[in-house]
Parts: sequence; C-alpha cells; structure tokens
Amino acid sequence: MADKGGFPHYMLKEIFEQPQGLRDTIAPRVSLEEAVVRLDEVRISTDELRALRRINIVASGTSRHAGMAGQYMIQDLVNIPVDVDYASEFEYRNPLIGPGELTIVITQSGETADTTAAQREAKAKGSRTIAISNVVDSTIAREADGVLYTHAGPEISIASTKAFTAQMAVLYLFALYLGQVRGKFAKEQRRQYIRELLDLPGKMEALLKTAPSACEQLAEKYYKVQDFLFMGRAIHYPVAMDGALKLKEVSYIHAEGYPTGETKHGPNAMIDENLPLVIIATCDREDSESVLRYEKNLANIRGFKQQSARVIAIASEGDEELPRLADHTIFVPRATELLLPILEIVPLQLFAYYMTVKKGLDVDRPRNLVKSVTLE
Ligand code: AGP
Repeated sequence: MADKGGFPHYMLKEIFEQPQGLRDTIAPRVSLEEAVVRLDEVRISTDELRALRRINIVASGTSRHAGMAGQYMIQDLVNIPVDVDYASEFEYRNPLIGPGELTIVITQSGETADTTAAQREAKAKGSRTIAISNVVDSTIAREADGVLYTHAGPEISIASTKAFTAQMAVLYLFALYLGQVRGKFAKEQRRQYIRELLDLPGKMEALLKTAPSACEQLAEKYYKVQDFLFMGRAIHYPVAMDGALKLKEVSYIHAEGYPTGETKHGPNAMIDENLPLVIIATCDREDSESVLRYEKNLANIRGFKQQSARVIAIASEGDEELPRLADHTIFVPRATELLLPILEIVPLQLFAYYMTVKKGLDVDRPRNLVKSVTLE
C-alpha cells in the first residue's frame, strides 16, 4: 500500500496523479504575463521550424493515440500537414520523408523498440526528430535532435494513463510554440491559449471528484458485457481509441474505437441492445465546428437508440440535451475543443479500471503484456 500512496492499485494512483503531471509539464514552459511558450529543449533552430513543410508523428499504442490528438492540434493551430503512423509499420513501409520535415516520436518509456527504430529510419532519411518521452535520458531521448519531456512521474501500471494526458499537453505546447515561431497568433490570442492550458489541471481535479463514483456505478452495471464500441469524431476519435484500448488491455473485454460517422459503413449492423456504446459527445460552444459535430452526434445517438442500443455518453457540463437521449451521461468540465480530450479520457480510464476490479483481475499487470516493449 505504501508506495501506492494509499491507493489499492498503481493504475488508480496514476489516474489521480494526472493534474500534478499536467502542472509539472505545462507550468515551467509558459509565461502568462509575457504570453510566451518556452521550449528551449527543442534544439532545432527557429529558421528550420519556420521552413518546415510537414510533420510526421510516429508512436505505438497509447502514445500513438496522443499523436493522433496532436495531429489535430498542430494542423488546427499551425496549419502544417501532419501524418501519424504506427511505429511498427513505419520502418516497413519505406516512408516518403526527408529534409525539411520533422518527425516527432512519442514514447512514455523512451525504450520501445519499434519507436526507436522509427526514429533511426527518419534520421537516416534526413528528417529532423523530436522525442517526447517521460524518462530522462532514455534511448530515444539520447538519439533525438530535440527532446520534450513529459513530467508525469514514473508510470508503473502497464496501462498508460498519466503519461497520455501529459503527452497531449506537450503536443499542445509544441503546437503553440510552433505557431509562435511562425508568427501565427497575436499576443492576446497566445495568452488566451496559455490560460486555457494552465486552467486544465484544476478542471481535472474537479473531474476527479465526481467521475470515480459515476464510473464505478457504471462498471457495476456493465462488467459482465463482452463487447463495447467506443466512438468519437475528429480530435475525440483518438480518445475513443484509447478508451477502447484501456478496456481491452486491463479487463480483457473486447472493445473497438471507431469514428462516429463511420459506423454507418459497417459496424451499424452490429449495434443493438447487446453492444453498449460509449460515445464522446462533448461540445465547445465557442467553436462552430465543435457545435456542428455535436449536432451530428445527437442525430447519431437518436439513430442508435432506435436500434435499442444502450448509450453511455461523455458530455460537457451544463448539457441538458444528451442526458435525455443517453442511458448514462458522464460530465466533464467545459474546455476549448482542442483540450477537451485531456479531460474526456479520465472517465474512460476510470471505467476500464473499475470494470477490471469488478472482474477480479490484476489491473496493474494484465496478462501477456509488458510495460515497455523493447523487443520487436
Ligand atoms: C497503453 O496503455 C499500453 N500499455 C501501450 O499501448 C503503450 O502505450 C505502448 O506499448 C507504447 O509504450 P511507450 O509509450 O513506452 O512507447
């Protein structure tokens, strides 16, 4: 119990450590007063960053899901094309990359064999590289041109939780930094972005006061179910992917993450009362595209309900419409569209945790998995 800080498992402890991980990752790198992001560790000249033509993000598992969210952040804020790939695929598909490009490799451990190999491949082809790692002086950090450390603290549980939210925060910081270097935003706009980022840990603390009991009650109802479908649109899709991955790896329940609008191209045939749906349907009312996506989500949920599906919705606080449609609604604090994923994943991590505990499985050490996959 001692090194678990009073928590019954590392996974739960690490879920609760996320606000601190975010604070330690964000605060030292921003000044609200000056409205600047400082990322000296990038170690790539501002001239090179201004001339970048494309960014490739390469990672495995949960780190790749963070990369998928980062793709939306960078494209939206900086308007540079971003590709995301599985590290395990990257080196075998002869990637068309080269000088004038940046490859960001993301890995909690910094030792994942596929990801270190991908970085070597990117470098060999002339791309600059930045590693995002949670472990100081890891192999990937030593070999990269620049390193951005997540300061989430050691992650013991095999399921990655606090590293994931810290990775997304670093990607957002990097997008802001790149936008700053490329003169994308006015000072007040920058200050607003920084303020929103600095507000996140407090919002997550508030979420951690309500979400655990709500997720535990849900797990009580659903832990005997064998299949789940998780859905999200745009930047919320990687959160659906990670929610499904968390559930699979710790509880051994089959789950898929799917883009909400894609279900009509196949999976809809499976949707009925036996396949519960977890749908991320938050909304940033200040963002017209977010509102549009939200409206589409509502329409989708109405359709799923007609097929008798049971719907667990992740909604923004204050939403009165979703609880009328969904069977269960978990609320997350309001935030700007690009930062919502950092909050949305918390109830999904807790759901996976409580489902596993109800099933009586070893949540910190799922079968057939290791914390860091150092062999191919
Ligand atoms: C996630 O919960 C995993 N256990 C796994 O997918 C992990 O994210 C992946 O193996 C990558 O690890 P890394 O971040 O240390 O490279």
